Amino acid sequence: MKTKRILVTSALPYANGPLHLGHIAGAYLPADIYVRYQRLIGSDIVYICGSDEHGVPITVTADKEGIAPQDVVDRFHGMNKSSFEDLGISFDNYSRTTLPIHHETAREFFTKLHNEGHLIVKESEQYFSESAQKFLPDRYVEGQCPHCQDEGARGDQCDNCGKWLEPGELLKPRSKMDGSVPVLKNTRHWYLPMGSFSKEWKEWFDSHEWPQNVRNYCLGWYKEGLGDRPITRDLNWGIDVPLEDANGKVLYVWFDAPIGYISSTKEWAQNKGQPEKWKEYWLDQETELVHFIGKDNIVFHAILFPMMLKEMGGYIRPTAIPANEYLTIEGRKISTSRNYAIWVKDYLQIFEPDPLRFTLAANAPETKDTDFSWKQLQSRNNDELADILGNFINRTMTFIHKYYDGIVPGKHALSDMDREMLAVLHDAPDTMAALFESFQVRKAVKAFMDICRSANKYFNDKAPWEARKNDLESCATTLTICVEIAQALATLMSPIVPFSSEKLLPMLGLTKPLDWNAIKSSDVKKGHKLGAPGILFPKIEDDVIQIEIEKLKAMAEPKIEFEAIADTIDFDQFKAVDLRTAKVIHAEKIKKANKLLRLEVDIAGEKRQIVAGIARSYKPEALIGKTILVVANLATVKIRGVESQGMVLALATGDNFTLLTPDGDMPSGIRVE
Ligand code: 2FM
Ligand code: ZN
Repeated sequence: MKTKRILVTSALPYANGPLHLGHIAGAYLPADIYVRYQRLIGSDIVYICGSDEHGVPITVTADKEGIAPQDVVDRFHGMNKSSFEDLGISFDNYSRTTLPIHHETAREFFTKLHNEGHLIVKESEQYFSESAQKFLPDRYVEGQCPHCQDEGARGDQCDNCGKWLEPGELLKPRSKMDGSVPVLKNTRHWYLPMGSFSKEWKEWFDSHEWPQNVRNYCLGWYKEGLGDRPITRDLNWGIDVPLEDANGKVLYVWFDAPIGYISSTKEWAQNKGQPEKWKEYWLDQETELVHFIGKDNIVFHAILFPMMLKEMGGYIRPTAIPANEYLTIEGRKISTSRNYAIWVKDYLQIFEPDPLRFTLAANAPETKDTDFSWKQLQSRNNDELADILGNFINRTMTFIHKYYDGIVPGKHALSDMDREMLAVLHDAPDTMAALFESFQVRKAVKAFMDICRSANKYFNDKAPWEARKNDLESCATTLTICVEIAQALATLMSPIVPFSSEKLLPMLGLTKPLDWNAIKSSDVKKGHKLGAPGILFPKIEDDVIQIEIEKLKAMAEPKIEFEAIADTIDFDQFKAVDLRTAKVIHAEKIKKANKLLRLEVDIAGEKRQIVAGIARSYKPEALIGKTILVVANLATVKIRGVESQGMVLALATGDNFTLLTPDGDMPSGIRVE
């Protein structure tokens, strides 16, 4: 059989922050497991990744810290590369998009597409900051999404509903740099006319099988119409557009980033001393190209990049795009901006990599969002890895060392029980192969654990400690089969928990995993010598896990920024403020002001109208009948055109307000003394 040639990529993470568990569970661990499996069965496979070092988020970080973008990417490239290595993510090459080889490759793409007439140039309006006197890239502008009304939409995209936004579409735009309102100003950019490629793209897309999420997203986009997409930006960080009349413009990060897969393959080939070898992977239509990504990257990998590759001519397009859903942590969304995440480097300071790999693989967000919890890590490690897999290995090793001097005693006539166990074992390579091949890591982990459970049951049912006294042949057969199982397990588990597999192999007298298919006819000879036993999976104790749970809880609590205490006032000044109890008699939302409520209150028989910015914390109907505290002698002001004759007293924590209320029932109009 001809070995398959496969090129696997994992999304290039932005070198703009450390890696967290959400990254790993999605685009990296499932890819690494797939790659390790393919290597085991002898496929010709290259696994490519690298840091995505352009794009606006990096300039935002650099601005915030007052350093150069290059310093930002240098820091996080190094940090993330080590995290991947320490977690056993086994890239063949981990490159960087700031390297000359990448700049050259990306420029070559642009130039060829431009020279062959595949690009168009258009004048368009872009957000421009008058205060900073520069164009504002998409991410520097925030506002309200015109489609779903979410307040946190960016200039180019709404994360809430996933829609692409054109400049000018955003409602209530403001600059993230200084909060000023940007204006729209004309600028010239180059566009990929996706609409004119869409017929060919649709035929190609329909001729492949894609996961449900990839299909749904892409067909949704397609139905809405694939318009022209700008592939250049007004920005001073990125790859210069290689045209004389394009001063000050760079390639859009989503144009250059996927080309990073190609430049990283080129770098890999150069490092191997075979600089032309990358072509075997990218230009030979027999190669299978597999992109592992998160679902937020679907459109770029399934539409934009395939179109670019097609128009370049000669390049292959993806054959599979496993696009994961999201991982939540202890029931909450990961948020890097709010620092709610578990960082890989922090995890690895305390724990071994394999329990995490195992937990995330067993619970991979393949088809729906899944949750990670510290308790789950503990129980996957203690109850499954240690108590099932580790226990089976341990009792086999201990028995053979104790009664056979660590030497495999050899098989005799097989009983039904032996045959049944061997049948389970011999089916395992095909069962697990089918799951790995179809990117079903969760099911592969389950299938693996089922074999471990069968192995423990076999050991129990055969009771070699009894047979040792009355049926030596049965005892020897059992233990020999147990070694066959253990050797098979060391191989089957190596894509998922490679470090533990490496530890286990020498215990079983092996220097490398078995041939995948050799497991189907397992055979360990009498006289085979085992190595020294050792603990494969130390238990994770409650107190260690508790510390991590507490750390997360602290991260989840809103951070309160305390203001400095105001200047001293004298008693008369305080006395001048007339604070009273007031009863709410009516409350309603104020149209087009989603933070404001209009309250009608009664203060000792006098009716007042007060505008309060508490709509995010209180529903109007929940306020009616409540006795609250108000400033009763504040000059009347107009807020959003509505008169406010006083002010409610509330405690502010971040965006949340808690109204002050008297302790117990109180008539309205009582003065605070
Ligand atoms: O979403 C992200 O983190 C991007 N940096 C992924 C890029 S994938 C590829 F195209 F390089
Ligand atoms: Zn939206």
